[in-house]
Amino acid sequence: MTTRHTVEMGGQTISWLQSGRGRTLILLHGFPLHAGMWDALHATTPHGWTLVTPDLRNFGESRGTPALSVDDHAGDVLALLRHLGCEDAVIGGLSMGGYITLAVHRMAPQRCRALVLADTRAEPDTDEAKANRVRLQATARERGPGAVLEAMLPKLIGPTAQAGVIPEQLRAIARINTAEGIVDGLEVLKTRPDARPDLAAITCPTLVVVGADDALTPPSSAETLRDGIAGAQLVVVPDAGHMSNLEQPVPFALALWSFLR
Ligand code: MLT
Repeated sequence: MTTRHTVEMGGQTISWLQSGRGRTLILLHGFPLHAGMWDALHATTPHGWTLVTPDLRNFGESRGTPALSVDDHAGDVLALLRHLGCEDAVIGGLSMGGYITLAVHRMAPQRCRALVLADTRAEPDTDEAKANRVRLQATARERGPGAVLEAMLPKLIGPTAQAGVIPEQLRAIARINTAEGIVDGLEVLKTRPDARPDLAAITCPTLVVVGADDALTPPSSAETLRDGIAGAQLVVVPDAGHMSNLEQPVPFALALWSFLR
C-alpha cells in the first residue's frame, strides 16, 4: 500500500509517498515534475524495502521558503532522513534528483548506504544551458509551468515515447507545480556546482542508469559518472530517453531492484 505523509521540518512542509517496509530507499524526482513520476514503482517495492519519494520543496505538495540551490534540497533530504529515524539510506534520483543526490553525498557521505544516479550528470551547465534556463524562467513567469514542460518535451522523452501516453502523463504531473517553484527550480539547475571533483570520494555501491536515447543527460555523461565512481555499475536502458523510468518501467525496475539485492 502507498501512503502519503506530510511533515513540517524547520519551517518547510515536506510531503512524500511511501510504500513497503524495511530498509529505506529515497528517490528524488526530476524537473519540472514531482514525486508522481515514481508512482508506478511503488507498486513493485520488494519485500524488505521502504520506498520514499518526496516532493522536493515547492514542487508537488511540498511548500516552504524558496529553495535556490541543490544544497537547499539536499538539506531537506537529510532532515527527512532524520525524521524517518534512518541512520542511512539508499539515496537516488533522476536528473535534477541525481544532482541533489550528489549534493547529499557531498554534504553527508555517512548517510548514503548506496546511490542511484538515473539520467543525470556530474557536469555543470554550460553558458548556453544557463542562458536557456533564464529564457525558461521568463516562460514560467509569463505562461506558467505547463509552457516550460512543453518547451522541454522534445528532449525530455525519446522518439518512441513521443507518440504514446507519456507526454500526457508528464503534462498532468507538471500542471500541479507553481510558476514560482519552477522559476526557483531553474535557478537550482543553473547554479549547481561541477560535481566531477567529488566523484572520487564516493565509495558506496552506486548504480548509474541511463536511457540509450537520453538527449538531455546522454550516455556519455553516465559513463563519466561510472568512470569517476569506483565500482559503479552502469545500466543502459534500450529504447528510452531521459525519462527512462517512465518510458521503460520494467527494465528500469529490474535494474533498480537487482542492484538493491
Ligand atoms: C530534469 O529532468 O531534472 C532536467 O531535465 C534536468 C536538466 O534540465 O538539467
